Amino acid sequence: MLQVDFANLDAARVGPDRGVEWGRELAAFTPVLEAARDALWERAGAPEAMLGWVRLPEATDVLRSVQRFALSREDVTDVLVLGIGGSALGAKALDAALGSAGARLHFVDNVEPEPVAALFDRLDPRTTLVNVISKSGTTAETMAAFLLALDWLRRGLGDEWKRQVVVTTDPERGVLRPFAERHGLASFTIPPDVGGRFSVFSPVGLVPLALAGVEVEALLAGARKANASARADVGENPPAQTALAQHLAWRKGQRISVLMPYSTRLALLPAWFVQLHAESLGKAYDRSRSRVHMGPTPLPAVGATDQHSQVQLFREGPFDKVVVFVRHREADRDLTLPAEEGLEELGYLFGKSLFQLLRAEAAATAHALAAARRPNYTIWIERPDAYHLGWLLQHLMWQTAFLGELWNVNAFDQPGVELGKRYTYALLGRPGYEELAEELARAGVKP
Ligand code: PA5
Repeated sequence: MLQVDFANLDAARVGPDRGVEWGRELAAFTPVLEAARDALWERAGAPEAMLGWVRLPEATDVLRSVQRFALSREDVTDVLVLGIGGSALGAKALDAALGSAGARLHFVDNVEPEPVAALFDRLDPRTTLVNVISKSGTTAETMAAFLLALDWLRRGLGDEWKRQVVVTTDPERGVLRPFAERHGLASFTIPPDVGGRFSVFSPVGLVPLALAGVEVEALLAGARKANASARADVGENPPAQTALAQHLAWRKGQRISVLMPYSTRLALLPAWFVQLHAESLGKAYDRSRSRVHMGPTPLPAVGATDQHSQVQLFREGPFDKVVVFVRHREADRDLTLPAEEGLEELGYLFGKSLFQLLRAEAAATAHALAAARRPNYTIWIERPDAYHLGWLLQHLMWQTAFLGELWNVNAFDQPGVELGKRYTYALLGRPGYEELAEELARAGVKP
């Protein structure tokens, strides 16, 4: 079950300036959302549309080979996951929420030497698997980490290093595929029509998560539910509806989109969502090449923790935000708060459960924001298990795709990050980047 409660978007709750007449807007936008839905599903099979992520939950052959691989490597205690951006954030978020039964995952998604060196100091190459993940097979940060990891494995294991590497990359592009073939390394493929930030249900996410003991089959089953809902009539189509909510918020000037799960286990989910929305929707040009400079600013928060931090700003600061809560209905474990003599002032807590407190805090915060005319809505899931998180992540990918259609922007490219990469190559003297190197020298830019 994934349901959305939009009541706190309504003008009746948050006033006519900030709020909307949700029922009326939903009816008015239904033809537009239907057209967006149909256009997305129609394009889903076309490789250039980059909608391959829609098919991933159905790819049972890939799932089986990932599961077989994980089963064959039960000797592994630790996995060094080398990847950045879309090649790391999804698995990182889901591992934080769900991983505990299998190997420990360590993500190297930065090139700061001290933490990387500390990992090599701490881990044992005999029981550590290195999973290098790069769609392009060229990303400097990931390649740098891979060079170091190869050296570390070779020094620790000699000729045995090959068994401790698994490569996840494009079927053809980049340096990793030929390297894997040359050395006979275990490898998985990222389908060419799946972009990094939409790749969590490809081997990019599935391989490390399966090794971590996550129920990857349940993740995909949940993601299939999101696919089914994204095909449905708009009245029963949560991805279309939350896209509309984001669109209406944008129109009302609420251009910061906060994602605030009430769960420590989901604390890294917003970081994944930030990349998904920022890279997909932050665009200078629309699809007809008009300059638009679109894109809401995604902002991560965690409840209840941020009630003692950002919520002050959300409630009293500028009227520029829509807050999206993620809540779960059931707790797998709960703790009852005991009474304590001498602390009678805390009597309102005695006998209550920790989950009751969490639920009360979330409900209170949503209402307090609405009372201050701050629009918000709540995505409800049953519990933060693999099935519901699969559903939630695929839901948010669909939301992003719907917004791309509503705003006529290409949600599946990222031209804005390319130039920075190219300047980095130029600063490091990569052949072919001499002109950019001269430009940087003229501007006085040094590493
Ligand atoms: O979403 C994206 O496309 C990016 O964030 C990429 O995932 C990121 O740049 C890493 O790219 P690659 O997987 O090619 O190393």
